[in-house]
Amino acid sequence: MLSLLPLLCIFACILQPLYACDSCYGPSDYTSHKRLVRRMQPGALNATTKPRGPLEWGQINFMHTTDTHGWLAGHLKEENYGADWGDYASFVKHMRKKADELEVDLLLVDTGDLHDGNGLSDTTTPNGVYTDELFTKVDYDLLTVGNHELYVTEIAYEAFANFSNVYGERYLTSNVQILNNATGEFEDMGHRFRYFTTKHGLRIMAFGVLFDFTGNSEVSKITKGADMIKEEWFIEAIKTEPVDLFVVIGHNPVRPGGNDGTLPIVQKAIRDARPDVPIQLFGGHYHVRDFIVWDETSTGLASGQYCETVGWLAMTGIKSPTFKGSMKPKGVPNPTRRAMVDGKIPPPAPPSYNTGGDEGMLYARRYLDWNRLTFAYHAVGSQDPKLDTKLGKWITGDITEFRKAQELATVVGCVPQTYCESCIPYGEEGNIFNLAEVALAATVINETRADKPRMILINTGSIRFDLVKGPFTLDDSYIVSPFPNSFMFIPDVPYAQAKEVLPILNAGPYQKKRSVSVDTHSSSMLAGRGICADPPLATSMKAKRDLLMPRSITRQPRESLDMTPGHTTTDDFGTDGDDTPHSEIPRFEVPNDVQANASFPTDGSEPEAVDLVFIDFIGEDYVLPALAEAGGSYTMEDVQYYMPPEFTSNQYLQEYAEMAWQEGMPNCGVDI
Ligand SMILES: *[C@@H]1O[C@H](CO)[C@@H](O)[C@H](O)[C@H]1NC(C)=O
Ligand SMILES: *[C@@H]1O[C@H](CO)[C@@H](O)[C@H](O)[C@H]1NC(C)=O
Ligand SMILES: *[C@@H]1O[C@H](CO)[C@@H](O)[C@H](O)[C@H]1NC(C)=O
Ligand SMILES: *[C@@H]1O[C@H](CO)[C@@H](O)[C@H](O)[C@H]1NC(C)=O
Ligand SMILES: *[C@@H]1O[C@H](CO)[C@@H](O)[C@H](O)[C@H]1NC(C)=O
Repeated sequence: MLSLLPLLCIFACILQPLYACDSCYGPSDYTSHKRLVRRMQPGALNATTKPRGPLEWGQINFMHTTDTHGWLAGHLKEENYGADWGDYASFVKHMRKKADELEVDLLLVDTGDLHDGNGLSDTTTPNGVYTDELFTKVDYDLLTVGNHELYVTEIAYEAFANFSNVYGERYLTSNVQILNNATGEFEDMGHRFRYFTTKHGLRIMAFGVLFDFTGNSEVSKITKGADMIKEEWFIEAIKTEPVDLFVVIGHNPVRPGGNDGTLPIVQKAIRDARPDVPIQLFGGHYHVRDFIVWDETSTGLASGQYCETVGWLAMTGIKSPTFKGSMKPKGVPNPTRRAMVDGKIPPPAPPSYNTGGDEGMLYARRYLDWNRLTFAYHAVGSQDPKLDTKLGKWITGDITEFRKAQELATVVGCVPQTYCESCIPYGEEGNIFNLAEVALAATVINETRADKPRMILINTGSIRFDLVKGPFTLDDSYIVSPFPNSFMFIPDVPYAQAKEVLPILNAGPYQKKRSVSVDTHSSSMLAGRGICADPPLATSMKAKRDLLMPRSITRQPRESLDMTPGHTTTDDFGTDGDDTPHSEIPRFEVPNDVQANASFPTDGSEPEAVDLVFIDFIGEDYVLPALAEAGGSYTMEDVQYYMPPEFTSNQYLQEYAEMAWQEGMPNCGVDI
């Protein structure tokens, strides 16, 4: 019998202020919750491929997460990434213990974006109230804010009141302020910097810097990186003595080249002032695994897409009179690679290299797959049952209950095959945008105009994830197409003009929000408007670089039998960063927008005029200008709702699943 308490707790937690939650989330209480679930989420797939070897441990080590976007239940349908936040909490506890035993430091870092993209975060009001609370069960050392925390006023205040305050001085927002509505003044959302000494005596100065983001609601203020480095407090902070290591974390691309990324600016400012102190950077936002070398004592790590990666960074060689730990812990591999500024990939040194001499700074980096096999392998030597901790099991159980309560696991259809964003070219069977066209044509219908030909436009940025074969749950509609954008239209547009719109849009720049809207919409409307500012997979710098990489043709047969498709990372240290080797998933470019046609003349002739339908996100800034270029003269006055405003772009796929994918129901053979 399951006790009622957990469920009551969940509701209490959503409806009550934070203090009421202490009773059910406090560390004293989770032990009393009896759960049916022991590991992962029920039905989540198990990984089959083990990590390639034990982790290197240095004098100081980091575990890094980024862009979790609410995926704390794990990737239930992907075997490489099926662990949940409870499994991770257990992993963290073991790794901390191991660090203590090895007499080295271990710091946990997160670089923001906790919302938007998963039902676990997006079915609450405000969005993220449950996942933020759950997130705080893990004792991070350094965290920072992402752009998704700042689009919507209620979410910004939630992150401020309920999240930032939990972590106190560990939540770093060097260039982000929030409006104190009692005084009318802007104040720091978290702390500008943290100067602290690690357990083993390293003196660290840390900053948390957001990229030059402009899509925020008016209650937050972001200082551009270039301006921040001129501020008196920053100039003073980087002069602080003594500092053994600077740590700069940021919801920020880690690789230089993007026009709004600010880590290079901050790195240079520190380097100019402190040529001899190592600087370590952690970034995110681009949803990639990446590692870059800035100079011999400065590197940067980015750790993945949506909570499917734990980034591991080990370094050794920091000379500090106060460090009391071990430079080269025994019984485990140690970092062996220099950061080489000439762009060469340093070869991994042979084990005999570790002779204790003065080799300068040595590094190791690894991208860990988010699954229990990996966690158990590194934490407790592959003994899966030993991985669980009380807290971990409690978190796992709570997620299961919450998913039930929010009906996230409700199956509405059976997805007959996997549809992906970029692993199959647009235009071919199995590409999700082709599926979107079919689904839009079948579901976006205004009954009074059903027989009028229509063209329906969406931006490809509105789709955020692949749709994986198997049960289509409510969760999938949040995962795949999370943004609540309404369908608008202009009636009876001459076909000659309408047909030009898509090519014009696709020849233009990638679509993101241009102007900050006034906060008069409901929060969900606003949430949808700004969100696509994240770069899409195939246009990010890293993805572009990957596309240019020659495809590996020499793969050992034995390996390819064992490998499952997944991340195949190339970074400044080469191609051995992925902790579990994967076979490569190809990536193809996607257009800016796609278009569905419906109710066209059945004889194949061209219609006179069409209803031009589009989601509101792209209407004013993109569709109208494109239509003008095609010779039409329309204004927002001509734009009206095609569907009821409540029918949004996160519903059409679900509606299509209910309509077209009933074969194999009710459970599609998998129990999620
Ligand atoms: C995964 O492994 C666990 C433990 O071995 C097992 O109980 C569970 O049924 C497996 N899950 C699936 C989906 O096969
Ligand atoms: C903080 O979280 C509680 C629920 O845990 C929620 O009711 C409250 O609205 C949140 N505070 C803010 C400012 O969003
Ligand atoms: C005012 O600020 C507090 C946090 O300081 C926040 O909880 C509250 O939601 C804000 N009120 C409004 C109307 O934004
Ligand atoms: C819709 O019509 C346009 C032009 O009329 C055509 O180029 C396009 O291929 C059609 N799209 C689909 C998905 O049928
Ligand atoms: C369908 O289109 C008409 C305009 O012709 C509009 O008045 C009506 O509101 C639309 N229906 C819905 C459900 O939005």
